[in-house]
Formats: sequence, structure tokens, C-alpha cells
Amino acid sequence: MFHVLTFHAFSAAVGLGLPDALAGGSLRTKELASATGADEDSLLRLLRAISVFGVVDRDGEDTWALGSAGEQLRDGAPEGPADFIRFYGNPLTWRAFGAMEESVRTGTAAFDRLGGEAFYDYQKQDTAYARSFNGSMRAGGEQLLPILVDGYDWSAVRHLVDVGGGDGSTLAAIAAAHPGLLGTVVDNEDVIGAVSDVVRASGVSQRCTGSVGDFLTGVPAGGDVYLLKHVLFEWDDAACTTILRNCREAMTEEGRVLVVAALMPEWDAKDPLGLMVAAVNDVQLMCLGAGRERSEKEYAGLFSAAGLRLDRVIPLPDLPNYHILEAVRVSSDSAPVGDGCGSVGGTG
Ligand SMILES: C[S@@+](CC[C@H](N)C(=O)[O-])C[C@H]1O[C@@H](n2cnc3c(N)ncnc32)[C@H](O)[C@@H]1O
Repeated sequence: MFHVLTFHAFSAAVGLGLPDALAGGSLRTKELASATGADEDSLLRLLRAISVFGVVDRDGEDTWALGSAGEQLRDGAPEGPADFIRFYGNPLTWRAFGAMEESVRTGTAAFDRLGGEAFYDYQKQDTAYARSFNGSMRAGGEQLLPILVDGYDWSAVRHLVDVGGGDGSTLAAIAAAHPGLLGTVVDNEDVIGAVSDVVRASGVSQRCTGSVGDFLTGVPAGGDVYLLKHVLFEWDDAACTTILRNCREAMTEEGRVLVVAALMPEWDAKDPLGLMVAAVNDVQLMCLGAGRERSEKEYAGLFSAAGLRLDRVIPLPDLPNYHILEAVRVSSDSAPVGDGCGSVGGTG
């Protein structure tokens, strides 16, 4: 049985730092309470609950050892879910989902009211929250990375600009597989600091750098490919059009924009699994911000509003819904002007 309360028990264990406290060896309940700043009796009740799932093992009368599931929950465990649990177990995230009814009634993100400001603005003043979100993004994206590296012909790309590229993991993976490729990650100031370590660890620091920037204002010029992976789904149509237009203005004449996204199946597509994945994520986005999941047709509308044309749709194998949408410039004569959102529906 995996119940919502089981998740909260995992979240409490990670928040208290239990897996790391037990990493050095077994501890008695009293010692563990002291190491984690917990109430001894309540801690014992939590330990009993998480022992059912192998997070801890009862190792004698009143002694606890780290269980096999607990190893995965340690900070820094390869592909471990600790940050994912921290982000989704954070009361702020949780309350935003709990207030879904309010989001549906008002058409506004519950997070804005609960956090006092929009999702990314809030993260600037709560760096622990930002770290957990970025870590959960990284953990969630690890399965996608090798598929993305193999799923597109990067060999002809000279300068890849990863717009909203986070800690640089995506760029580093692509650059490591393509020794001729130069790369730039653009992201917020609080995120970009991580890029140098990530590209160094992948041996691509000579060719890849981070650049602080606001993609709503502009992006570095001169790239031949602008990558937007897991970015547009967090923004309303007007902001997406601005981001895409900024890429269009910055890219070389023959440049391309690549959007990596899960596509919302069309209403008449017989794709129940795809619909479930996209539609459930869509209501999550509704609670947290102005973003939404979009169909291929809706992305095509965004490209068109930004003076781009959807040229190719490349499915990524083994990941239901995931695609690379490749867009090229529409000649400036025929590009629409203004900040309109083309044929796309509401503003999220
Ligand atoms: C969902 S994450 C995706 C990160 C990365 N592309 C990936 O696939 O793992 C969205 C990224 O957009 C960045 N971001 C949000 N607002 C931004 C802005 N105005 N300018 C630049 N980056 C921004 C965030 O810091 C975050 O790294």
C-alpha cells in the first residue's frame, strides 16, 4: 500500500535527515533523536512506519540501521529522489495542490497566494526550496537525457544555447557526445553558479559556459540551435511567444529552435496513457503557475506567433508523449508582429 501518508512519512524522514544520520552505522532511538533534533517518542513512531518500506531496519531492541530504500534517500545518492521528495513534500507545494479547487474557480495559480508571489520569484528568497525544485527537475530528467542525446542529430550543431538550461546537465551530456559543439546555458543568477561544476565534471568546460540572463528580456546571440527543454510548459502563451521571439532574434540566419516537451494528445487521439500523463501534469502546472501542457497544434500556434514555423516533430522513443519540436525562422516579410498569441487558446 502506498498511501499519501506514506509519502509524507518519507518526506519527514528526508526532512529530518534520517538517512544521512544513519549512514555512519546503527544508532539507538535516543541517539537518532538527538542527531536529528526530533522528539524521541514521535521519532520512534515514524521509524516504525518507514521500516515497513525498508527505509530503516530495526537492528536489535532499540537500534536502527539504514535500510536498502533508505540508501536511495541519502543526499547525493545517484539518481536518488531526496530532492524530489523535499520539493513535493514541502508544505507550500502540497498546499498549492490542495488548493486546486481555488485555482479552478479563480483561474489563478494557488501558489501565488500561498507563497505570496509567483513560483520563480518566491524561489529567489527561499533558496532551499529552489534547490529542492532544481534537484527534483534533475532527478526527473535523468531518464530523458540519454534518449535526447541519441534522439537528435547534434553533429551539425556548432553553438547550442540551452535557454533555461538549469545546472547545465543537458548541455554537458550533449557536448560530451559531440566534441565539436560549443554551448551556452542561460538561466537565473541563483541557478547558473552550478553550471561550471557540472560542465567540468563532464570534461566539457573548455567548450561550455553559463550566462546569467532573463529569457523574457533576451538571450545570447549567435547560436545556431536554441534549446528549450522543459521550459515553455511553465509559462502562459504571451510569455512563451516572447521567449520564442527572443530566440528567433538571437539565432543565426539558418538557426533552429528545439522545444523538448511532452505533448498533450488531441481530444480525439486514442491515447489514454498519454492523456493521463499530460493531463495530470497539466493540473499540477495550473496550481503552481501560469503554465500548461500543450498539444502539437498549440505549440505550432506559439511558433507562428513568434515568427517561427514548426518544421519537424521528432518522437523520443520509450517516453510516452515526449517529442522534439524543431522550428525554423519564417522570413521577416511574413512574420507576424506585436505580442499576439496567434491561434493558441487561453493564456493559462
Ligand atoms: C523546469 S526547469 C528546466 C531546466 C532544464 N531546461 C531541464 O530540462 O532540466 C526551468 C528552468 O527555467 C529557468 N528560468 C525560469 N525563469 C527564467 C528566466 N526568466 N530567465 C532564464 N531562466 C529562467 C529556471 O531557473 C529553471 O532552470
